[in-house]
Amino acid sequence: MVASGTYGWGEEAESLIDLDSLGAFVTKTVTLNPRQGNPSPRIWETPSGLLNSIGLQNNGLNEFLKNSLPLFKKYRVPLVVSIAGETIDEFLDLAMTLESQSRVDALEINVSCPNVKEGMLFGTSPKLTGELVRKLRKACSKTMIVKLTPNTGEIKEVARAAEEEGADCLALVNTFLGMAIDPRTRRSRLATTFGGLSGPAIKPLALRLVYEVSKAVKTPVIGMGGIISGEDALEFIIAGAYAIAVGSASFRRPDAPIKVLEELESILDELGIESLEEIRGTFKDG
Ligand SMILES: Cc1cc2nc3c(=O)[nH]c(=O)nc-3n(C[C@H](O)[C@H](O)[C@H](O)COP(=O)(O)O)c2cc1C
Repeated sequence: MVASGTYGWGEEAESLIDLDSLGAFVTKTVTLNPRQGNPSPRIWETPSGLLNSIGLQNNGLNEFLKNSLPLFKKYRVPLVVSIAGETIDEFLDLAMTLESQSRVDALEINVSCPNVKEGMLFGTSPKLTGELVRKLRKACSKTMIVKLTPNTGEIKEVARAAEEEGADCLALVNTFLGMAIDPRTRRSRLATTFGGLSGPAIKPLALRLVYEVSKAVKTPVIGMGGIISGEDALEFIIAGAYAIAVGSASFRRPDAPIKVLEELESILDELGIESLEEIRGTFKDG
C-alpha cells in the first residue's frame, strides 16, 4: 500500500505508476472542511529521514468527493480514504458521508497526526480512541483501519481499545515527533516548533512497535515506517504485519512501492516461500 499523505490524491500518482498494481491506494487525510496546513517551511530533510509539518493540508470532503474520488472509477485498486476530525462528530460526519460511496473500500481513521494541535489527542488515549471507534463502528459498515501514533507510551493499550470497539485493522506507525534547530538563528528549521519524522531513520523504531502491537492484538496490522526495500517489507511481515505501506521512499523514487513489491517477490522466491502466510509473525525470539 502507499502511506497516507505521501502519494497525493491519485491524480499525481497515475502518471507515475499503474495504480492497479498496488495492494491499496490510501489517500492523504481528508478533513470535513478545507485546511491550509501549517506555514512554510514545513519539510526538513535529516540524515536518513524527513521531518514534516504539513498539518493536514487538504481541500475538504466536498472537494474530495467532487474532484478526487471520480478518478478512481477507472481503476480496480482498493481505495482507502484517510479521515481526520477535530471532534467525534466531525469524524462521524466524514464516515457517514463516505459510507454511501461505493468506490470507497475502507476508511483509515487518522488519530495520529502530530502536526495539528488536536491531531494526536485521540490516538494517545486508549479511552478516547475506544469511544471514537465505538461510535464510528455503529455509524459505518466499511472496513475500518485505525492508524496509530508512536508518540505515546500506551500504543498497545490504544491498539487494544480500537480492537475491542470493532476496528478491522490497525495501521502503524505515523511519524515520530521531532525537531531540528538552525544554530545560526536558534530557531526551528520548520515554521512550527516540532515536526513528524519519517523515512529509514525510524524503521527500527517502527518495526519494534509493529512487533509488539502484533503480539498484543488479533486484529491485522498494516506496518509502515522507513520501508524502502523488499527486505525491509519482509522484516515487517516477519514481525507480524499483514500488509505494509511505503511512504517517504516515494519522494526519492516515485515508483518505490512497485520496487518494494518486486524485491519482496524476489526475496520470497529466493527463500522458497510461496505465501506470506508461511512467514508472517515467525520472528524467532531468543
Ligand atoms: C509529507 C508527509 C505527509 C504525511 N501526511 C499524512 C497524512 O495526511 N495522514 C496520515 O495518516 N499520515 C501522513 N503521513 C505519515 C505517513 O503516512 C507514514 O505513516 C509515515 O511517514 C511513516 O512511513 P514512511 O517512513 O514510509 O514515510 C505523512 C508523511 C509525510 C512524510
